[in-house]
This record gives sequence, C-alpha cells and structure tokens, in this order.
Amino acid sequence: MNTNGGPEGEDAPKRGTRRARGSPAGDAASGDTHPLRPVRSFVLRQGRMSPAQHRALDELLPRYGVPYAPAPLDFARLFGRRAEVVLEIGFGMGETTAAIAAAQPQRDFLAVEVHAPGVGALLRRIEATGLANVRIVRHDAVEVVDAMIPEGSLAGIHVYFPDPWPKKRHHKRRLLSPAFVHALARRLAAGGYLHAATDWEDYAQQMLATLAAEPLLANTAAGYAPRPPWRPLTKFEQRGVKLGHGVYDLVFRRQ
Ligand SMILES: C[S@@+](CC[C@H](N)C(=O)[O-])C[C@H]1O[C@@H](n2cnc3c(N)ncnc32)[C@H](O)[C@@H]1O
Repeated sequence: MNTNGGPEGEDAPKRGTRRARGSPAGDAASGDTHPLRPVRSFVLRQGRMSPAQHRALDELLPRYGVPYAPAPLDFARLFGRRAEVVLEIGFGMGETTAAIAAAQPQRDFLAVEVHAPGVGALLRRIEATGLANVRIVRHDAVEVVDAMIPEGSLAGIHVYFPDPWPKKRHHKRRLLSPAFVHALARRLAAGGYLHAATDWEDYAQQMLATLAAEPLLANTAAGYAPRPPWRPLTKFEQRGVKLGHGVYDLVFRRQ
C-alpha cells in the first residue's frame, strides 16, 4: 500500500489516510476560479479539529499567520530581519516544517497550507518550541505564489508529498503542473533550489519530466536526487520505506 491516499470519489478525499486533507468549507480558498490553474490541487472539507488546534487558530494565527492579500510580501518586514527565505507548500501537520526551521535558524520559512487542523498543529509547534523563523499563510499556494511572492526572492522551495491524485481523471489537480513550476522557478533567486519529494512513482516521473522541461531550472542530480540531509523522514515515510515503497526526491536549481 502506498502511504499516499488520493481522492476516491469525483472530488472526495479518501477518509482515514494521511493524504485526505481539507479545511472548513466556506474558506476564502474555495472555488475553482484561478486563471493560472483553474482546477485546484485540494478539496476543502470540514476536517476534525482538536480543541487545542482550534485555540491555536484563534490565538496564535494572528501572531504567526499572514493573511492572504494580493500584494507582494516584504520578507524583511515580515520576519523582522534580512535572511534567506524558504517557501514550503502543503506542510500537512507541520512536523517537517518545524524540524527544518529549528535546524536552520539562520533562514526564514514561509509555510503555506489550506488544511485548518494542520495550520493549528504547526501553530502549536511554533509556540511550544519558540520558533521565531516561521510564518504561515492559510490559503491556496497557487494564489499566494502568484500574488504575494516577489520574483527572484526565494532561496528555496519545499514541496513534500503533494497530494498524488492517482486517478487519471484527477491528474489535472496535481500541484506541480508546468505552469505552476514555471511560476515557482521565477520566484527563486539565482542558485535557489526547488526540492520536491513523493512516494507515488508515476507522480515522481511526471515531476521529473516537468521540472526537467522548465528552462529556468537545472537538475542537481542525474534523475532523482538522494534525500538531502535537511529533509527529515516523516513517520508515514518510514512506514512506507519499511513496506518497501520508493521515495523520490527531486532537487533542481535556478540557473
Ligand atoms: C499529502 S499532504 C502532505 C503533507 C506534508 N507535506 C507531509 O509530507 O506529510 C499534501 C498537503 O498539501 C496541501 N495542499 C494541497 N494543495 C495545496 C495548495 N494549493 N495550497 C496549499 N496547500 C495545499 C493539502 O492540504 C495537504 O495538507
């Protein structure tokens, strides 16, 4: 069994898998209307929120959250210093985000997710561990990148285990489309990297082809890359590895 559950109904994420994500219906991110990618890479649905996650959203999001607004961010102002900025898209419950941010205090991390319980969970980690270098945007990353991330401003981009949308008719929902990869590549500074990982083989192949076809990017490896030491193994991944699944890392740099 692959650890990445995908949508099973026309639009319904599979229950009981780590890949079934959603956030409350009625969130500003709902609707399928963005010109860059009119079909969204997620389905919003009421997720189960613990009282602690609810509290975190109410009390901590105003402190560590960045409201979506169609205006470029000033990172130095946002983080209160000038440092390299890494964008993470779809952080899930935020374990990896928090671990990397703690290990790299010299960098700042802008973490984007639509799944409300995950946002609550990362807020709690930020508060519990005193992380000063993470800010969260709870919104569709495609719109965030388009409207809020200045061109050439990022040292890195992390896209770990994006929803695989395994059914062929859902492939159009996969996040790393050629148009979005181009938009991401333009946000990287020269030498900045895009690091993606998946345990879904055919998505890995598609990512490899899409990233290789993007003229602004160059592969750092001959095909898939070794897992860079800064990406911790998630518990799902460890379970998958024990079951013999492949995990594919891709690391490309802006030329
Ligand atoms: C399969 S999960 C992976 C979570 C985490 N990166 C991990 O490795 O465990 C994919 C996540 O991406 C989020 N996501 C999908 N499309 C998104 C988008 N356009 N903007 C922000 N988050 C998105 C989903 O809500 C979900 O939490």
